[in-house]
Amino acid sequence: MSEPRNDNHAPGPSLWPIGFAIGVACLLVGLVISWIVAAIGAALAIAFGLLWAREVTREVRGEVPEIEPETRAVADEAAPLSGDGAAPLPLYTRSRFLEATTIGLGAAIGAVVTLPVLGFMVLPSFTHISEHDVDLGPLDNFPEGEFVIATFLENPSIGEVSRRTAFVRYNGPDSSNQPSFTILYSRCVHLGCPVQPNGPIDEKAKQQFRNVELRPVLAQSFGCPCHGGQYNSEGNRTAGPPVRSMDRFEYSIKNGHLVLGSLYAVGNVTGNGAAAKITKYPWSSPGTHVNGIEAWLYPIVPSQVTGG
Ligand code: FES
Repeated sequence: MSEPRNDNHAPGPSLWPIGFAIGVACLLVGLVISWIVAAIGAALAIAFGLLWAREVTREVRGEVPEIEPETRAVADEAAPLSGDGAAPLPLYTRSRFLEATTIGLGAAIGAVVTLPVLGFMVLPSFTHISEHDVDLGPLDNFPEGEFVIATFLENPSIGEVSRRTAFVRYNGPDSSNQPSFTILYSRCVHLGCPVQPNGPIDEKAKQQFRNVELRPVLAQSFGCPCHGGQYNSEGNRTAGPPVRSMDRFEYSIKNGHLVLGSLYAVGNVTGNGAAAKITKYPWSSPGTHVNGIEAWLYPIVPSQVTGG
């Protein structure tokens, strides 16, 4: 007596797993080199994964399998009859259960591994800071060629927690005869400690404009007390562990007042003052490389709360 054939549940040849594997590989490589490649990989993995899952679960979902007529006859023979012997019960063997369990576990593990990474990639886009323009007062508050320490509430409605410090220097007019400013954010780009000016602060010349405090300082460089990071007058790192130049604020002149805009990250600055050439990047957390090979090797840094 011959054994009944039990190969009707064996998966047929399919290209979807290959596409899924390519998508996952593309996603992992993209996480290292570029979010665009990662997004393409994720799209491929999702698309091929869904097609694969659809194919594997076709019989379970009751779709008519695309099999040859003679094979279908063997499958019908192998399917158990229902109690009254009228209609065959749906075939759900142990191997099919294991197959579905393996796919489900694989998907769950993939989600656990990739979702936090994707979160760290996407969240910083929603946590950018300096959403509120800050009026630092009349341009006369800023003597040419000297730094002024400006401390202000970035968002007065949430109080002291939004207090920030910037080092502001008026550079004189630029090549298009517009007032030029260098405005460095005091937060160290190593791990976020408050950077200090390397020079005496003229407390007697302190000024107040609304909730902004302005204190002139005689400094041509800045230092971080935490790990010895040092920056020059353009905010370029000169010593210590910081990974890029000091962040800067965008600015505008409105009704004769200096108004701070958004923060941005700086790879490097060449030249000085109004003639400086700044390699500008979207703002990133301290410790994040924004240029050079390190930006490729260490592309993902968890977002951090700002302070300073
Ligand atoms: S936090 Fe500034 S050097 Fe480390």
